[in-house]
Amino acid sequence: MNTLEAISTRRSVRSFTSKPIAKEIVEELLRAAMSAPSAGNEQPWQFVVIDDRKMLDRIIDVNPNAKMCKEAQAAILVCGDTTKEKYPGFWVQDCSAAAQNILLAAHEKGIGSVWTGIYPIKERVEGFRRLLSLPENVIPFCLVPLGYPAKQMPQVDRFQKDRVHHNVW
Ligand SMILES: Cc1cc2nc3c(=O)[nH]c(=O)nc-3n(C[C@H](O)[C@H](O)[C@H](O)COP(=O)(O)O)c2cc1C
Repeated sequence: MNTLEAISTRRSVRSFTSKPIAKEIVEELLRAAMSAPSAGNEQPWQFVVIDDRKMLDRIIDVNPNAKMCKEAQAAILVCGDTTKEKYPGFWVQDCSAAAQNILLAAHEKGIGSVWTGIYPIKERVEGFRRLLSLPENVIPFCLVPLGYPAKQMPQVDRFQKDRVHHNVW
């Protein structure tokens, strides 16, 4: 799958089969995440791999919009680490780039994924912090549940010519 094909065919997957994901694949996804660009190459991220069934089942308690974790085989929590910031505030963009890399790498591997938002919703940030015993400097940013897709999602084209401006507005 080439890059443009991966970008244009990736969709959020919220329904998964019971097929487990090999640890090596999860590591490849983490490698993809850490290949992301970051401000001044600050790499202000930390990742928590959640593959314990009981823990996956408890995620719904801290994010009701992440019900798919009940079916997911694993999930990667993307976190910002404020002690690793060189350019304050850019960690959100850095972590977004890392998260998108996970989605695309998973898709290339035939694994379905979905970005579930945590930051900046205070209750979710605090909920994940408590559930996973995260230290104060680590901010849970988003959770990416993973699994082999139970159904294929169709490709969509969201290009909107009227959102493009040339030189001046
Ligand atoms: C910042 C952000 C937060 C999101 N949060 C959730 C979420 O909590 N639960 C969920 O099911 N999907 C979530 N999504 C996925 C979006 O709903 C999805 O990307 C969007 O509907 C477009 O569909 P697609 O990913 O299939 O192209 C989130 C996506 C982003 C970028």
